[in-house]
Amino acid sequence: MKIVLIGYMASGKSTVGKELSKKIYIPFIDLDNFIEEGEGKSVSKIFEENGEIYFRKKEHEYLKQLLDSEDNFVLSLGGGTPCYAGNMDMVLNSDTTSIYLKASLKTLYNRLQKQKATRPLVASISDEKLSEFIAKHLFERRFYYEKANFNLKIDDKKVSDIITELRILLH
Ligand code: S3P
Repeated sequence: MKIVLIGYMASGKSTVGKELSKKIYIPFIDLDNFIEEGEGKSVSKIFEENGEIYFRKKEHEYLKQLLDSEDNFVLSLGGGTPCYAGNMDMVLNSDTTSIYLKASLKTLYNRLQKQKATRPLVASISDEKLSEFIAKHLFERRFYYEKANFNLKIDDKKVSDIITELRILLH
């Protein structure tokens, strides 16, 4: 079984993915970490030294490699992954179940405000501008996110509740 978790930065893809993987005994892979291992440097360093276009190219290649493999996994994508290089269609045409972890602007703002430093796309954006940035970004990106096999609202839900709902969807 291949499960793909989709959503904006800070929507909980990795936290939920790790927890789900433990519960259903399928290995967890975080695409950003997979890219970091393959490239030998952090996503922030790749953005800084090679630029975003290079990152998007590599992101596509590593995603393809995983989708083409025989392995089972719970895979959390990066927030931008579905929106570039035909990646969302590639996911939809593969033998996977995809789920969009759908968070409101308010939830994303509250979480991202605290976690900006580790995220190159928002690291230099002031708190005043952050909400508008996320709103615009979400407007562009949800077109791709909402193509996922399932859309699951996660606002105000505990991780354990999200896992329960996911397991029902996957049944
Ligand atoms: C990105 C999200 C990040 C990472 C990169 C770009 C984006 O992943 O892939 O910084 O374009 O939204 P997370 O969603 O895991 O933070």
